[in-house]
Amino acid sequence: MPLVCVCSPKGGVGKTTVSANLAYALARSGSKVLVIDFDVQNALRLHFGVPISDTRGYVAQATAAVDWSQFILKADANLFVLPYGEVEEEQRLAFETSISRDPHFLLRGLNTVLNYPGLVVIADFPPGPVAALKAVQSFADMHIVVMLADTASLSLLPQMENHKFLGAPMNSRLGEYYVVNQSDMRRNLSRDVSQFFEQRLGDRLLGTIHRDECVPEANASQRSIIEFSPVSAAAFDIELISKKVAAIVGVKVGDGEFYAVPNHGIK
Ligand SMILES: Nc1ncnc2c1ncn2[C@@H]1O[C@H](COP(=O)(O)OP(=O)(O)OP(=O)(O)O)[C@@H](O)[C@H]1O
Ligand SMILES: [Mg+2]
Repeated sequence: MPLVCVCSPKGGVGKTTVSANLAYALARSGSKVLVIDFDVQNALRLHFGVPISDTRGYVAQATAAVDWSQFILKADANLFVLPYGEVEEEQRLAFETSISRDPHFLLRGLNTVLNYPGLVVIADFPPGPVAALKAVQSFADMHIVVMLADTASLSLLPQMENHKFLGAPMNSRLGEYYVVNQSDMRRNLSRDVSQFFEQRLGDRLLGTIHRDECVPEANASQRSIIEFSPVSAAAFDIELISKKVAAIVGVKVGDGEFYAVPNHGIK
C-alpha cells in the first residue's frame, strides 16, 4: 500500500498523464511504485515503454485468475505497470459485471499488490463515476481528482464538493485532493480559473501543472516528463506534486527530508 486513485468527472483532462508521471517521480525518489490501468483504452502502458503491439493485461483473465499480480510488467528498477490489456467486449463486460456484483472482486485480485510492503499503488481510472472507482472506495487511501483550468471543470466543482460525483463522499482514508492541469498563465481565463481553484480548494489543491508541449512529447517517447525535459515547467510542477503526495501518504523519499521505503522487490 498505499493506494492512490487518480480520477475525474471529466475525460481528457490528464489523468493518465498525471498517474504515469507521478509514478515516475515517486519511483525516482526511491519508492517502489506500481501503476494499475482501469481504463479499457489500455493507454497507460504506453507511458512505460510497453510496445503498442504488446496486448497483455489482467482484465482478460481477471474473472478466472485470483491473483492479478502475475500480469505485472516491469518498466524500470522500481517501477511496475499492470496494464488493462486488449480485451474482447464480452471480457470487458464480464469484468464490469464482476466488479458490480461482487464487492470483494477487486480486493481479491489485487490482494497481493495491496499487501506488498512499502509498495505505492497508483490507479488510473476512466472518466466519470465508473464501477471500479466506486468499488475501491472502501480500501483506497487517497483520491486525486484531475481538473482543467477551464470553465467546464469549474462548473463541476460543486458536484465534486457536494459528493454528487460518486453519489457518496469519496471516503478514502486520507481524503480527496485536486490537481489543476494544463494551466496557461498567459491566458486570462486560465489564470482566473487557476486562482479560483487555489482559493476555493486551499490545501486540497496539490498543485497546478502548466500546459506544456513537452508533456505529449515525453509521452510519445515513452519517457517521464522529468526525464524528457527536466527543466520544463511541467516537470517542476509534477515533482512538487509528487513530494506532496509522498508526504500525505507517508511515503518517505530520498531527498534528504524523507527516507526511502524498503525495497522488497516485486519479481
Ligand atoms: N500539462 C499538459 N500539457 C500539455 N498537454 C497535456 C498536459 N497534460 C496532458 N496533456 C495531453 O492531453 C491529452 C490527454 O491526456 P490524458 O490521456 O492523460 O488524459 P485522460 O484524462 O487520461 O484522458 P481519458 O479521459 O481519455 O482517460 C494527451 O494528449 C496528453 O499528452
Ligand atoms: Mg486516461
